[in-house]
Amino acid sequence: MITLISIKSNREIELLKIAGSIVYQTHQYLKPYIREGITTKELDILAEEFIRSKGAIPSCKGYHGFPATLCTSVNQEVVHGIPSERKLKNGDIISIDVCACYKGYHGDSAWTYKVGNVSHEVDSLLKHTEEALYAGLAMIKPGNRIGDISSAVESVANKYKLGVVRELCGHGVGHSLHEQPDIPNYGKAHTGPLIKEGMVFAVEPMLNLKGADICMLEDGWTIESYDGSPSAHFEHTVLVTKDGYQILTGE
Ligand code: MF3
Ligand code: CO
Repeated sequence: MITLISIKSNREIELLKIAGSIVYQTHQYLKPYIREGITTKELDILAEEFIRSKGAIPSCKGYHGFPATLCTSVNQEVVHGIPSERKLKNGDIISIDVCACYKGYHGDSAWTYKVGNVSHEVDSLLKHTEEALYAGLAMIKPGNRIGDISSAVESVANKYKLGVVRELCGHGVGHSLHEQPDIPNYGKAHTGPLIKEGMVFAVEPMLNLKGADICMLEDGWTIESYDGSPSAHFEHTVLVTKDGYQILTGE
């Protein structure tokens, strides 16, 4: 297969930076609302209003028919949970995936938040999934390969005996939300496409506390861990720079 990975122009990079910043600001805006009693639908409405107030469009709404701005995935839900009347409870975790499109360019970032107090093992799952994200990002520089990111994420998951979801992966980001290349969360170092300055990637480990297997609910969207164990998802969109990377969905 031929992999065509776009190198972004300066103008595109400026727009991707704005889109990324709007995604980051949306997470910051939502954070204080993530508490016991709020519904995932209420979070979704807040996010859509915020994104539109910044002159952007929610990328997920209508994407292959997805009905909402946010993906809200609670506890054993891995990704693509649909916002609903479900109320968050103390001890839940919620993965919030925010995608926004500014003048045709996307930003994509997911984060897993605690609702009140969570168990020690769930707390560790979140810490270790975030660690896996940053270990993957640390491999990003011109000359390295996509497999270097994958293998770094997988090593962290293995170190803590977490299940790596294999059916879903990170991706290029640009004029489309999902571009080449695929960035799996498992794989071999020194393999895969070469990383070059000006590429933009979303790296997004999805790790389960127990088994790696997943299943889809009858709504056709929500993906859960097969064994019902909690799942975490941390994702940043980053730009490949001359000697490393810059996070576009951060401060
Ligand atoms: N950030 C999600 C991903 O990369 C976006 C999903 S949009 C949806 O898979 F419409 F599919 F939910
Ligand atoms: Co993504």
